[in-house]
Amino acid sequence: KKSEAWSARFSEPVSDLVKRYTASVFFDKRLAEVDIQGSLAHADMLAAQGIISQSDLQEIQRGMAQIQSEIAAGQFEWLLDLEDVHLNIEKRLTELVGDAGKRLHTGRSRNDQVATDIRLYLRGAIDDITVLLRELRLALTDLAEQHADTILPGFTHMQVAQPVTFGHHMLAYVEMFGRDAERMADCRKRVNRLPLGAAALAGTTFPIDRLRVAATLGFDDVCHNSLDAVSDRDFAIEFCAAAALVMTHVSRMSEELVIWMSPRVGFIDIADRFCTGSSIMPQKKNPDVPELARGKTGRVNGHLVALLTLMKGQPLAYNKDNQEDKEPLFDTVDTVTDTLRIFADMARGITVKPEAMRAAALQGYATATDLADYLVKKGLPFRDAHEAVARAVRACVDRGCDLADLTLDDLRAFSDLVAEDVFAVLTLEGSVAARDHVGGTAPAQVRTAIARVRAELG
Ligand code: ARG
Repeated sequence: KKSEAWSARFSEPVSDLVKRYTASVFFDKRLAEVDIQGSLAHADMLAAQGIISQSDLQEIQRGMAQIQSEIAAGQFEWLLDLEDVHLNIEKRLTELVGDAGKRLHTGRSRNDQVATDIRLYLRGAIDDITVLLRELRLALTDLAEQHADTILPGFTHMQVAQPVTFGHHMLAYVEMFGRDAERMADCRKRVNRLPLGAAALAGTTFPIDRLRVAATLGFDDVCHNSLDAVSDRDFAIEFCAAAALVMTHVSRMSEELVIWMSPRVGFIDIADRFCTGSSIMPQKKNPDVPELARGKTGRVNGHLVALLTLMKGQPLAYNKDNQEDKEPLFDTVDTVTDTLRIFADMARGITVKPEAMRAAALQGYATATDLADYLVKKGLPFRDAHEAVARAVRACVDRGCDLADLTLDDLRAFSDLVAEDVFAVLTLEGSVAARDHVGGTAPAQVRTAIARVRAELG
């Protein structure tokens, strides 16, 4: 059986292998809903411009309604022979309404049609992701609020650095996901432009009204160059880059959750419903969700590179290469959407263990910088203070004790500027409370930051 859309030009049917190789219907059928939306807006414009009749428009609307219900009921028959979602729907429309269906493609090409579909699809996906980012940020902010005063060691180089509050640590991720939401909003501006009207590449001879179609479909503007309109996939690449950053942030957080849940660390527990056991080791409870999220970051990063590579060698205008944009894009959307949904949920299933965090913060001389700052405030230049405290730490390492375990006389051996008031500085609470400026870890600042995020999220 010949493919009917272009059969008269061909003297032999497409081989079965080529048919399967070139067909996209089994993955692009997920564009059916937006494809129909685009077609209805196009038909409405054609009728308004007198290019097709009002009765043709009504027939097209009737046929499309029928097709929508067939798809919803799972009764629509998708045919490989018809290559893609666009031709499948148009063929069925023609079966249902005859000549009116054949007039739908007037002044249009699959090139501007598919570009419109992807933009409509991606706009919806961005809106979903924006909601999910907000939910995740709210869940992490709630966790931050519960633990505005909980102290854990902060690390650099994975070595104990300075005490921080767990609330502050959670708010670091709230910031990251906030930037992700901004990137999505910015990307949406460039997604939300209408390519339809560019036709195959050069525009059309019919008196079309592109602004009317743009308004019907909720686009902010039209694409202003027909060659660019059909061949631009920047918006999809940009989305994948923003998505890769979302996953990168999720992955960093995952890495921390996995470490924190290790019994050797024991800072948190994750609710059982997000973990799995082992088929051999009865004692195991594994943090599968964060591990898998960390792993899935690889595929999303891969999709970004796939799309960049897909575009780099394409001359203007449309090339069939672009059919390869869909699977990476769909998988990126699915992966990011599922991951954010599960993370927003899991954030509420994290149990913090403040005693374990505190015990860890008491090891590793986390308040050494506080002691140096104390000496500076007593008049010692910072470099000298740094050296004096380094010697004190060295002595503690030799004795196997903490800075706070040293007596006043012990400490005075390193600097005679040390006085009774030093011990307040060496406590974990004193250390975090002292970092009381915008962006600092003090509980008071954490509460201010939480209020700011809540105001932003409404
Ligand atoms: N399935 C195609 C795609 O995804 C639709 C556009 C095909 N256009 C063409 N002239 N072959 O890009």
